[in-house]
Amino acid sequence: MSAKWYTCESRGNNVKVLVCDSYETLSKKAAGILAGIVNVKPDAVLGLATGSSPVGTYKELIKLYEAGLLDFSKVRTYNLDEYYPLAPENDQSYHYFMNVNLFDHVNIDKESVHVPDGNAADMNEACASYEAMLNEIGGVDIQVLGIGGNGHIGFNEPCDEFVGPTHVVSLTESTIQANSRFFEKIEDVPTKAISMGIGSIMKAKKILLVANGAGKAEAIAKTLEGPIVPQVPASILQLHPDVTIIVDEAAAAGLKEYHA
Ligand code: F6R
Repeated sequence: MSAKWYTCESRGNNVKVLVCDSYETLSKKAAGILAGIVNVKPDAVLGLATGSSPVGTYKELIKLYEAGLLDFSKVRTYNLDEYYPLAPENDQSYHYFMNVNLFDHVNIDKESVHVPDGNAADMNEACASYEAMLNEIGGVDIQVLGIGGNGHIGFNEPCDEFVGPTHVVSLTESTIQANSRFFEKIEDVPTKAISMGIGSIMKAKKILLVANGAGKAEAIAKTLEGPIVPQVPASILQLHPDVTIIVDEAAAAGLKEYHA
């Protein structure tokens, strides 16, 4: 298990980057950061993501809980996004994903779990009330993020301007295509979602982005070393004061500063 820290300064920012020798190392390191926060602040508010990238991190958190090293009883969570329309009980919903991959295996109070309401009668109202909750807590203590191959975070796809608050998103063809691997057929993939906006994500006190595999290399390079543009939504993270990005060697392949 080896990992190398460096601070990416190529664009005048100071994003902490940890390059790991494997997905397992990456997952252990990410879980260690989250566990540290919960141990220091038992009622920490965690912003969570779905997708394949953080699954290993959640497995490691479960192991720490099972070993008696982590207590989720006072933790509150807010997830980034949810398909719309989709009920939480639907096995393709992000709410269901979180139950299966984390919540069902630890002692979290399900009343303390928040996922945007994919079942709401009024989508816009669901977005406004989710954003109001985020404002009320003053931002999550740490937000876990994955990243799309096109640089998306949450469901904030490349576009012409950054969208601030939690909002309704029409999924792009490429995201529908990428997500269809979890559905029986592509027609079953919902075409809309509710997602925290870039502004909602930037309110987090800390950001922890995890990415693995060659398919993420270009997005990671642009995020860290490219210009801050809405065409690469994750590039906005250069403006956040406390970002840690944990990647494996394959996802780090395009980082000029790391390989210099
Ligand atoms: C998930 C999310 C997405 C994913 C991204 C990467 O809640 O908001 O932005 O983080 O699509 O997905 P994976 O990890 O499956 O490659």
